[in-house]
Amino acid sequence: MRAEDWDRRYAEQAQWSPGPNGLVAELLADVPPGTAVDLAAGEGRHALWLAARGWAVTAVDFSAAGLDRGRARPGADRVGWVTADVLTWSAAEGSLDLVLVAYLHLPGEQTTALLTRAVGWLRPGGRLLVLGHDVANLTAGVGGPQEPAILHSVDRLAPVARLLDVDRLEQVRRATAQGTALDTLLLGRRPAG
Ligand SMILES: C[S@@+](CC[C@H](N)C(=O)[O-])C[C@H]1O[C@@H](n2cnc3c(N)ncnc32)[C@H](O)[C@@H]1O
Repeated sequence: MRAEDWDRRYAEQAQWSPGPNGLVAELLADVPPGTAVDLAAGEGRHALWLAARGWAVTAVDFSAAGLDRGRARPGADRVGWVTADVLTWSAAEGSLDLVLVAYLHLPGEQTTALLTRAVGWLRPGGRLLVLGHDVANLTAGVGGPQEPAILHSVDRLAPVARLLDVDRLEQVRRATAQGTALDTLLLGRRPAG
């Protein structure tokens, strides 16, 4: 979907829960705060949650309407809001403690290239957390985009995982009102040296 399509969706109504995804919150709850980027932040639910926990967060998304919803939320002044295409936006090399990419779905080659660049933005020990709809969701889960080419899987994230010390790389189940959704999770740390 193009930025205009996302703008239209966000202009119509809020799209996501105001609070963070449960697994994102569980995985990051005990991580000491530092500098973070929430790539494709949408309405900024994760950026706002991280900022409230002391993180210095930049929320990047190409939908100005989505970010405007985030900017209107309590605590928004603690987040840096950047309207940009994640395919061209960049952070300084070795500058971040966390890059979070939640439910961003791009064609496979673009995903690999973006996440590879994102690993370069991490300090040694910095974390990359990727969570999104798994391709198996099409046949065995509910919700999410229905185009196989833009969905995640353990195999599709493996080239990025090879750049990291991996804590988690797996398919995970998420309970929704419509049934069980299948997501792919990658959590890893940039190796030292
Ligand atoms: C499903 S939403 C997820 C939003 C947020 N990460 C969350 O979990 O609440 C996907 C987001 O990706 C953004 N997006 C898609 N392609 C993008 C791109 N090339 N550059 C920046 N943002 C993009 C959309 O505008 C949208 O806000």
